[in-house]
Amino acid sequence: MSAASNPALDVKAELKKRADEVEAYLADCLRGRDIPARLLASMEYSLHAGGKRLRPALVLAFARLYGADGAELLPFAASLEFIHTYSLIHDDLPAMDDDDLRRGKPSNHKQFDEATAILAGDGLLTDAFSLMFSCADEGGVPAPRLVRAAQAVAAAAGSGGMVGGQALDMEYTARPGVAFEELRAMHAMKTGALITACCVAGAHLAGAEPPFVRRAREYGINVGAAFQIADDILDVVGDTKTLGKPVGSDERQGKTTYPSLLGLEKSRQLAKSRADAAADALAGLEHPQADFLRALALYIVERAH
Ligand code: IPE
Ligand code: IPE
Ligand code: MG
Ligand code: MG
Ligand code: MG
Repeated sequence: MSAASNPALDVKAELKKRADEVEAYLADCLRGRDIPARLLASMEYSLHAGGKRLRPALVLAFARLYGADGAELLPFAASLEFIHTYSLIHDDLPAMDDDDLRRGKPSNHKQFDEATAILAGDGLLTDAFSLMFSCADEGGVPAPRLVRAAQAVAAAAGSGGMVGGQALDMEYTARPGVAFEELRAMHAMKTGALITACCVAGAHLAGAEPPFVRRAREYGINVGAAFQIADDILDVVGDTKTLGKPVGSDERQGKTTYPSLLGLEKSRQLAKSRADAAADALAGLEHPQADFLRALALYIVERAH
């Protein structure tokens, strides 16, 4: 089965609804902390610049699919947006992708300065973990569940995951002859790892058993791959205004991408087959959250943003 089992589901509107829920929590979650004014302004600038809020939506959808719910999961979901936003700020820096536009606004280092952008990223990454562990407060998430979920995220964000993938991305930039297998593995680390961790963490937060955690992981690995292939495609065929970030950035820097290596058509086919594999990982689950997740996998490869 590769299609969502509920054809009436408007997945774009549903994702927006879920993003709004996270948005409301993010709005004042840095309040009350003793953060120097310029650093706070820089962190809030990027955090509140928009964004699809896909990663928090994955955390919450998997937790709810396994039966958990409630406001106590929101800090954990929001912490994934802290980590993701930090990764975008650093990704845009002159030493990395050197991009001047993000989420429809000047990149953080353009709006502020490089030192502030680096520190805003450091602040968001570190504060993500205090936010995450606040879920244990006042009878919230049981500690063993929270530890498993946090471990998954820490491992995925770190040097064996997203940071390692970004390091490979830098190493491969302008290097001729990057092989397909190298590209595939680099994508899995820089983008797939954190997306997978969102799914797995959501399952752990709900106290899921290993077979469900395995389904969540399988879904995440495939959605993560589909997501980055679509991102590479949009860098070629997308529209800067819709995307909110520069089109043609990959080619300008000599990045090896799915389209540069395989062409657009083959890239589209591969993205679709990974989205189908993600939906298949949830086959047989009759639940509104599973319907959403299956539809989301397909939406990810068709999106214009
Ligand atoms: C962009 O992520 C960076 C990648 C990992 C490809 P998103 O496309 O999720 O960016 P926002 O959060 O919506 O801005
Ligand atoms: C970034 O990949 C992955 C991250 C971990 C941030 P890209 O460099 O392709 O992301 P965009 O296109 O700038 O959003
Ligand atoms: Mg990059
Ligand atoms: Mg980039
Ligand atoms: Mg990109």
